[in-house]
Amino acid sequence: MSANLATVSYIGATILFILSLGGLSSPVSSRRGNLYGMIGMTVAVLATVFGPRVDLAVGLPWIIGAMVVGASVGLYAARTVQMTQMPELVALMHSLVGLAACLVGFANYIDPSASAGLSEAEKHIHEIEIYIGILIGAITFSGSIIAFGKLSGKIGGNPMLLPGRHWLNLTGLLVVIYFGREFLHVTSVADGMTPLFVMTAIALLFGIHMVMAIGGADMPVVVSMLNSYSGWAAAATGFMLNNDLLIVTGALVGSSGAILSYIMCQAMNRHFISVIAGGFGTTSGATPVAGAQPAGEVVPILSAETAELLRDSKNIIIVPGYGMAVAQAQHTVYEITKHLREKGVNVRFGIHPVAGRMPGHMNVLLAEAKVPYDIVFEMDELNDDFPQTDVAIVIGANDIVNPAAEDDPTSPIAGMPVLQVWKAKTSIVMKRSMASGYAGVDNPLFYKENNRMLFGDAKKMLDEVLVALKS
Ligand code: TAP
Repeated sequence: MSANLATVSYIGATILFILSLGGLSSPVSSRRGNLYGMIGMTVAVLATVFGPRVDLAVGLPWIIGAMVVGASVGLYAARTVQMTQMPELVALMHSLVGLAACLVGFANYIDPSASAGLSEAEKHIHEIEIYIGILIGAITFSGSIIAFGKLSGKIGGNPMLLPGRHWLNLTGLLVVIYFGREFLHVTSVADGMTPLFVMTAIALLFGIHMVMAIGGADMPVVVSMLNSYSGWAAAATGFMLNNDLLIVTGALVGSSGAILSYIMCQAMNRHFISVIAGGFGTTSGATPVAGAQPAGEVVPILSAETAELLRDSKNIIIVPGYGMAVAQAQHTVYEITKHLREKGVNVRFGIHPVAGRMPGHMNVLLAEAKVPYDIVFEMDELNDDFPQTDVAIVIGANDIVNPAAEDDPTSPIAGMPVLQVWKAKTSIVMKRSMASGYAGVDNPLFYKENNRMLFGDAKKMLDEVLVALKS
């Protein structure tokens, strides 16, 4: 393939990636977005492999071998990983991007042909690219490994707060800057390896320290932040390899990850800087950590009574959460919705931006169950409608419907916007026990006079409700 054709293919792939991101912004166009992404990636891989910079006679067996191994692992993971394990898989993938940036950085530094023919100034710029690329890559690698450990429960979710941790970070940064200066002044590749290794070790420790200091409740933001880092690591690799497509794609991932982190911080009423500084949150299902303890008694309800209430309603809002994903109850939810809509009941879904365990988690499940898009609303679109709602059904959600976020300034989730289900005439919460949700805080909603608790696995209880509705 000629250099010109490769460049045109790269531009085509870039456009497809941008279209893909645009498509993913709405459930209606997300399939198309995915398709654009897949085609773009195929074009990018083909243009790289058959491009002018790859000596196929030498490289082809290696490339095929690597692709077979990578594709097998990817296919296996895609088939076996549960939806609820997606965030940890994503964290693991980010670690690979970070590792790749590190390895490419070292290889590029050792390879004499990479800097052949460069002027003194160009050589310095090339070395800065290598230094920064390895730095971001190493932070992304170790941070993502720790995020994977925390999300999969292999490492405890509590924040690890070392004394003077901000000073430790600052010292690390100064040492990295000092060795960066040294790195630019060495006269041989062998001499340059020491500053590179020292900086890599500090960056790895920094990545571990940064994520260890972040509590369970902030992990979603951290995963999206590491997503952003992995994009910048890829962009840095693009600079090292002089690959425009990698620079643009890395920048797209980097900036979209940063925007997502910002949106999630807003949804959880957290400041980005305080998330990174760490220290908030506890393990899932922990005992309440702070705030006034709710008082009173909960009123249980049976499936048959729930069906009765639904049958007599005109307006219903369903609020799904993590428990719906665990129970895989989305198909029964759809059956119930379909049945009620056929009877003329106005059924809508209210989706909190951080419901579940990953961005868009609920939208994906509802789309899979074929729930029509036009009855699925963002939190802000229907939060004012609860007073006119007969029944609000909360299916395996907890933190996202916790009134303490609005009423109790001492609550750890104070200020987080929540779905105001308690303003409906009746709210029904489906969960298995009185356990707390991801943020580990108790929920005063359960004790409200107009609230009923339907205890049990969401799928089992909804199956019973459906049978009762149809009888
Ligand atoms: P949570 O607050 O975690 O509550 C989920 C509830 O589901 C639990 O209280 C649990 O109670 C119940 N549950 C679990 N399995 C169930 C089953 N089989 N049947 C019925 N109920 C079941 O979830 P949420 O309200 O969706 O809020 C999300 C939380 O996760 C937020 O704190 C958010 O910050 C955090 N988070 C979000 C993301 C993203 S990006 N969405 C990523 C990571 C973390 P029982 O044990 O009593 O059944």
